[in-house]
This record gives sequence, C-alpha cells and structure tokens, in this order.
Amino acid sequence: MRIGIIGSGYVGLVTGACFAHLGHQVICVDNDVKKLTVLKKGKVPIYEPGLEELISENVKKGRLKFHASVRYTVRQCEVLFICVNTPPKDNGEADLSYVEAVAREIAVSLPSYRVIVDKSTVPVETGGWVAKTMKDNHRKGVAFDVASNPEFLSEGTAIRDFLEPDRVVIGVSSKRAEKVLRQLYAPLKAPILVTDIKSAELIKHASNSFLATKISFINVVSRLCDAVGADVDLVAKGMGMDPRIGKSFLKAGVGFGGFCFPKDLSAFLRISEKRGIPFNLLKEVLEINEEQKSYFVQKIESEMWNLRNKTLGVLGLAFKAGTDDMRFAPSVDIIKHLQSEGVTVKAYDPQAMSRARPLLKKVTFVKSAYEAARGADALVVLTEWSEFKNMDFKRVKRLLRHPVLFDGRNMYDPKQMKKLGFRYHGMGRPS
Ligand code: UDX
Repeated sequence: MRIGIIGSGYVGLVTGACFAHLGHQVICVDNDVKKLTVLKKGKVPIYEPGLEELISENVKKGRLKFHASVRYTVRQCEVLFICVNTPPKDNGEADLSYVEAVAREIAVSLPSYRVIVDKSTVPVETGGWVAKTMKDNHRKGVAFDVASNPEFLSEGTAIRDFLEPDRVVIGVSSKRAEKVLRQLYAPLKAPILVTDIKSAELIKHASNSFLATKISFINVVSRLCDAVGADVDLVAKGMGMDPRIGKSFLKAGVGFGGFCFPKDLSAFLRISEKRGIPFNLLKEVLEINEEQKSYFVQKIESEMWNLRNKTLGVLGLAFKAGTDDMRFAPSVDIIKHLQSEGVTVKAYDPQAMSRARPLLKKVTFVKSAYEAARGADALVVLTEWSEFKNMDFKRVKRLLRHPVLFDGRNMYDPKQMKKLGFRYHGMGRPS
C-alpha cells in the first residue's frame, strides 16, 4: 500500500521505516528542510537502536522516501498518518494546533477517498475534531474516513515494539477504513482490536496512565521498605507473580520521566477534569513522582550530612537506558536540587550528554564512568545503562574519595557492594 506519514519526528520515522520494512511504499513528510536533507542521505537525527539501518536499507530499496509537501503526499498515498507533535501547554493540556493544521492541509489536497489516521497521542475526541476540520475544508463530493491507531512504542525498543506488538488498536467509524487498516497491518500477524475512535484514543491515555500508576505505587512501597528494612525488589517479585498484577513496571527508582508519561498523565487529567470527572488518582501519581526525586536527594543528604562543597559523580542522565532523550528526565530535577544545596556535579552518560548540556548548567561532563568517580565524595546512579552494571568496582572504589554508592535504579546487589567495601544505598532495599 502507499502510505504517507505527516511528521517525521520520533513516532513518524519509526512508523514510516517499519511500514516500509513490511513492504509498503512510504513517504515521510516534514516541513524542516534541513532534517529532510539529512534523512534523504539515510542519516537519522535521533538515537534509536536499529532505526538508522532500517531507514537507509529502505531508502536504498526505494520503499521509503522523504518529501516536504503534504499536498504531493496526499495525492500519492491512500492512507495518511498524522504523526505530528502534541506538546503540553502550560496547563497540562495537549496542544493540538499542529494536528489541526495538518488535517486542514490534507483536506484541501484530497483527490479521492483517503483514510486519515491519527497516530500522535491525542486526547479523546480529537478524531471527531479532525473529521470536522476535514469536512469544513475538503472539496465536496470526495469521501474520506478518519481513524485512530495509537502507538505503543517505547524508546530504545521502538522497532521491536512496532514489528512485534502485543496488540494493534484500530479505532474506526466505517468498515471501509477498517479493511484498509487491517490490510496495512496484515504482515505483522498481531492481534488486532477494532474499536470506535473514542475508545481507541482512550486506550492510549489510559494505558500510559495505568503504567505510570504502577511505578508511583511501587515507589511509595519502596519508601516504606526503607522505613521498615524490607526489600522492594522481593515485594515487587511477590506481587508480580500474581498474573492479575503482572511483574512489569514495578521497578522502584528515582521516578518516571520521558516525553510520554508526564505529558500524557497531565493531558488525561485535564481532559477528565474538563468533562467533570476529576481523576484525582492521577494527580497523586504525578505528585508521588515529584516527591520521589526529592526523597532521593534526602537519602543522599542523610548519609553525607552536609551537602555544601561536596562533589558527586553522577552516572546516567537520560530518562532511561537505551536512549539519548532528556525530556522530563529525573536527572535534571535531581541534579538541580543537589546543586541548590551546594553540591558540585561531575556527570557521565553514554548517549545523552550533548542533549543534557543545555539543560544542566555548571555540571562538568566527563568522558567515562570512572572519570565521574575520580575524586568524588560519592557515586550516584540515575540511569540503568548496562555499562554501569559491569564496572570494575575495585577501581571505582580506589577512584572515589569515599566508597559511597547511591543506586537510584537498584542495579546492584547490596550484599555484593557491601562485600566490596561500599556504603550502598538503593531504593527500598536494606543496605
Ligand atoms: C512509554 C510507554 O511504555 C509506551 O508504551 C508509550 O508509547 C510511550 O511511553 P517510554 O517513555 O519510551 O514509553 O519509556 P518506558 O520504558 O515506558 O519508561 C518510562 C519511564 O518509567 C522511564 O523513566 C523509566 O525509567 C520509568 N520506569 C519504567 C520505572 O521507573 N519503573 C518501571 O518499572 C518501568
């Protein structure tokens, strides 16, 4: 099939490259000409494992093209995916002005029947607005359908998530659109759930909010574990063995970050409030997430007494391992808080340092984890990169001024660390 992807950001590029990989003809559109030049050379402006290879392979095979014109793409393609940004406004609501602008542009370009699919994360009822915008602007007599097909891509594993999904959700209002979208996803052999458009939109926000709720839940349990001397990893294991609860997203740590969870939770909260259904649970989930970062700083303070004039080596800045993404990364708030207490920070991240630089003033960025440890009063782990797991801890101990380790991601075995001579502090684990 011929597919147009409007918006060549993270979601658009992964979606476009994967559809091309499945054998479809894809055009990715963007209004950033510089970005398009880079992409046409098979280079990718973001870090996502496997994406560059997939793009350059499909560009070579002639299945993936890049273009600046929405009008041209609408004429060429039978299905159009809206993958533009929906950034948060100051009040937490999603800014849908880019979605509206694209819908209008598609509408005025429609030559014949097209399916317009919303893949950007949007609040419930956006599909209705897109359909209305289309109706108000398109040439009379040309049919179209609007659909919702939310993405469930996690950064770092996005290609696998796309090609081997747990489910594909298709929200449609006509059999004709359903048929087109089923055909598109047929090569995946994944379970397909067909719903109405509003339910599909809600599935996305409800899923992300639920996953974030699990994380905040276990983070509070981890504080309780600290207070009574229990082990949160064992508690999570025991809970997760119940299939009604499930074992994923029960890893305690310094809180969730990334562009999706904080933004989607706030947007979901706003939309429910607007509809007169206050979702206070989500307020609490967000609040716990903020507290968790301060809780971690307090943990450091209670071991080190005064923070003023202390130096900390920070390992990991990205909001999670496997990405260079710094958006809403817990490291930013934690480091700023530590700096406000007078701490000097030396930091290392295998991928995210160039993105971190503009966000973190007065931090010394170093070239390795060992450099971060050299001469520091303690080591602080904020992202669970595997290279931190396999460090030479005898060397780390020699480099540190004091053998103190704050493990914000529960990466290490507390007993082993103790044996190596570290004063170890995890999240909700007896040290
Ligand atoms: C998330 C959703 O998983 C994905 O389905 C959606 O499409 C986009 O948002 P992503 O933001 O890439 O994906 O990362 P994810 O792996 O879900 O992690 C989000 C945050 O939660 C990270 O900061 C991570 O460190 C944290 N996390 C995750 C925990 O603290 N504990 C866990 O058990 C899981």
